[in-house]
Amino acid sequence: MSEKKHVQLDLIRRPRRLRQTQYLRDLVEETSLSPAQLIQPIFISDQEEPKLAIDSMPGMDCLSLGALKQECQTLIQLGVGGIALFPRIHPDLKCDSGREALNPDSLVYRALRELRASFPELTIIVDIALDPYTKHGHDGLVETGSQAPLNDETVELLVEMAVLAGQAGATMVAPSDMMDGRVGAIREGLDSNGFESVLILSYAAKFASAFYGPFRDAVRSVSLDSANAIDKKTYQLNPANRREALLEADLDEAEGADILMIKPAGPYLDIIREIRESTELPIAAYQVSGEYAQLMAAVEKGWLDLEACRNESLISIRRAGADLILTYFAKSFAESVAH
Ligand code: PBG
Repeated sequence: MSEKKHVQLDLIRRPRRLRQTQYLRDLVEETSLSPAQLIQPIFISDQEEPKLAIDSMPGMDCLSLGALKQECQTLIQLGVGGIALFPRIHPDLKCDSGREALNPDSLVYRALRELRASFPELTIIVDIALDPYTKHGHDGLVETGSQAPLNDETVELLVEMAVLAGQAGATMVAPSDMMDGRVGAIREGLDSNGFESVLILSYAAKFASAFYGPFRDAVRSVSLDSANAIDKKTYQLNPANRREALLEADLDEAEGADILMIKPAGPYLDIIREIRESTELPIAAYQVSGEYAQLMAAVEKGWLDLEACRNESLISIRRAGADLILTYFAKSFAESVAH
């Protein structure tokens, strides 16, 4: 008997009609994700070995300059949108004032010059902050025993760092320090040195997050003197505050930032959405080391599916309003769509 089953509910709207086949689902998909929208953060150091594993970030390595070049070649072929460089500075080169940051032959500037010579159009982002270079691990100059960087003195150094990065070939400088007034000062410093086309990607709303732990392990920026977690609450935002995040974004826009970034990403999707609606500038989000590590840990235990959760986390950040995403998954996502 092929008698049709009686329809029970008298519904005009049946949203499931749009979800019946993959073709239909693709037709009405609202958000896209492509490798070109992703930036791969890369850790580098002066090391003999081409690659050194990072314990708290399974699948991520710290690269030698030779390996870095190869990696960039691969990322370009995969269509990844760019890279962000993070140097692991030798402990002997660290001091309380982070002087190595102003050495034109320091690791990150050497890496930049080499990459720029080989890849004229690659988007290379350089972080502007003192933490890889200071013994105490703070992003700025601090008086002994203090957890509060000196604002204006630090900004002066950040401007010099940005000019060195511009000279060495950076596409964008990314102040991640959260000092007041640094975006305007860096813009002026870049312009007066002939680098008016270097972009500023400002970490506009960077929260004092516990999700940065694995990154600090990767660049060894935690205090070398104590095992205690470093406290950056006098400059990074309180995770409880949204109005303050909007204010920071407004200030950075007024000071001349080209792109505004929110960081971390996953736990702050509401902030991404709000800033998306309060500016016409492009928005970036940084899916940070702890967001990566927690997923990788669950995957290692066999509790979550890597590809599915990776893609869901990234599409959610795009849906919230981010145009581009800094993510440790950039390469693996690009590989997964390449074939
Ligand atoms: C340093 C900096 C940090 C990150 C990017 N730049 C760490 C911090 O502020 O302590 C974190 C990135 C990550 O966790 O993936 N200014």
